[in-house]
Amino acid sequence: MSHAKGMDRTSRTLQVRQLKIDFSHGFSRRWLGGDAFRTQLFNAQSFSFPIGEQYFIDSVRAALPLLTDEALKAEVKGFIGQEASHRHLHTQFNAQLNAQGLSYLIEPFVSWRVRSAARLSVKSNLAITMAYEHFTAIFSDACLSETSWIADAEEPLKTLWTWHSIEETEHKSVAFDVYHAIGGGYVARIAWFIYVSLLFAFDTTVQTLHCLYRAGELFKPATWWQGLRYCLRPRGLIWFTLPHYLAYFKPGFKPWDRDNLHLTTHWLTEQAGNYRALGRPTES
Ligand SMILES: [Fe+2]
Ligand SMILES: [Fe+2]
Repeated sequence: MSHAKGMDRTSRTLQVRQLKIDFSHGFSRRWLGGDAFRTQLFNAQSFSFPIGEQYFIDSVRAALPLLTDEALKAEVKGFIGQEASHRHLHTQFNAQLNAQGLSYLIEPFVSWRVRSAARLSVKSNLAITMAYEHFTAIFSDACLSETSWIADAEEPLKTLWTWHSIEETEHKSVAFDVYHAIGGGYVARIAWFIYVSLLFAFDTTVQTLHCLYRAGELFKPATWWQGLRYCLRPRGLIWFTLPHYLAYFKPGFKPWDRDNLHLTTHWLTEQAGNYRALGRPTES
């Protein structure tokens, strides 16, 4: 698939949606299929979103003055709108996690990294952002296509994670397209991807273990049996993500090589009453 086609994909589909969701009644401590391991792995991801997605927003926004392509600028605005709404709802979700006794242990480390990244070039911050966006795109792909990931989540969390996965899929190429539009190259893309891979693995492991500990699930054999099953089953954490992870190393890699936009259409049609479309920045 050509680069131009990848950009066409996003410009047709980017839309900011306000999700009608209410966390005020809380949710159970094993909201993901009664599975402590998966629940805390997803909770760990959610803790990272408010800081992480603000960093992604700032990274692409910094590139706006360098862009000449109006269609790409519109995509950046759509990306910013979508990530801002994700931050907003995950902040509410995380407040409920705090109420359950969970906390974002690694927040000081992550905040320090974000502050340090201010010294990097626009291009380097975009390379970091698109690496994280690749991880997000893989997780979103799995959530939308594999029943063993979030299909058994309780509501309204199934709606939250499905909506987030859909929008991550829609905008998975934006940071990549901006990076290349301002002259980003292969070597830096891969170097920052390796850096992000190590951090992502460290952050996810430490924060998930901390959540399991605070939830009183860390030392239960059943938790680790659930974790092993989720990681090792066909189409589970390792075997689903590995080929998509490795694809990023191909010199000609494009996010839309994996053309999975069809995964979003059913939910968007069926759940149209559960969100308010705020317009398409790409058409403004
Ligand atoms: Fe997001
Ligand atoms: Fe994203």
